[in-house]
Amino acid sequence: MPLQANQPYKPAFFEVAQIIDGKAVAAEVRRNVRAEVAVWTSEGHAQPYLAVILVGENPASASYVRGKIRASQDAGIAGDTLTFGANITEQELLDVVRDLGQQPNVDGILVQLPLPDHIRADRIIAELNPDKDVDGLHVVNAGRLATGQVGFIPCTPSGVVELLRHSEIETRGRRVVIIGRSNLVGRPLASLLMHKGYDATVTVCHSRTRNLSEVCREADILVAAIGRAHFVSADMIKPGAAVIDVGINRIEDNSRPSGYRLTGDVDYEAVKEIAGWITPVPGGVGPMTIAMLLQNTLLAAKRRTS
Ligand code: GUN
Repeated sequence: MPLQANQPYKPAFFEVAQIIDGKAVAAEVRRNVRAEVAVWTSEGHAQPYLAVILVGENPASASYVRGKIRASQDAGIAGDTLTFGANITEQELLDVVRDLGQQPNVDGILVQLPLPDHIRADRIIAELNPDKDVDGLHVVNAGRLATGQVGFIPCTPSGVVELLRHSEIETRGRRVVIIGRSNLVGRPLASLLMHKGYDATVTVCHSRTRNLSEVCREADILVAAIGRAHFVSADMIKPGAAVIDVGINRIEDNSRPSGYRLTGDVDYEAVKEIAGWITPVPGGVGPMTIAMLLQNTLLAAKRRTS
């Protein structure tokens, strides 16, 4: 049963947090996209096409990009990775991005971040065609989101909102605290949750926030997007709150063949005893980011055709 606006957050019969299964929700979104792509192509349209740009040798980025391309193909979206060595110049990369923006068969363009230090990510993103910016990072799309206009919404924030919606976690009138002010997650998520329909009261915290624990304890929904393993501890959580962990941190683990394991920004084991809902890492927000990218790519293809 959906929570009513005047209900306390954690219903009394929950002993520990409900685990929000991002993998399952993402699978549903991906199934829907696949079905929509099938209808779209059966109507005589070309397969949507996503170009992913990967620069340098960052193993985490390479792994994310492989996941994005595999998921695209699984949904019936054509996808290619354009891979460049870390020594590509900023000008060369600008030319690549501009050229993709003009190619009629390309619906979506994603530049995997981070880029090497000698390349200014802002300049590269500014060169994206906003109508193909499926990551929603171009200032035109950021501005549209901030002002409540239709554009492309960055994939991780829309994945977070989709998880809340799917878990029937009410945002209207609720206090949301986001830790992290990045252009990829914190800022756009704050804009999105303030939109009509979501109607949350949003606080964005960062490294200079005073009394961070106190602020977090006021949150009905706490979103951790700081990139520091286990930063959010149990004493920062209001009993019954929904805790959404956006962090994906690699920490050393010699018991694994890879020598590392992935962990979130939240001390999951301790926090799940206090929270009403929690997302695991891996298997929470991460799979949603990919699913929403597919949704945005299909949307880009449709918008460019109409
Ligand atoms: N690096 C980490 N997450 C993302 C993302 O969602 N998009 C891009 N472009 N780069 C990322």
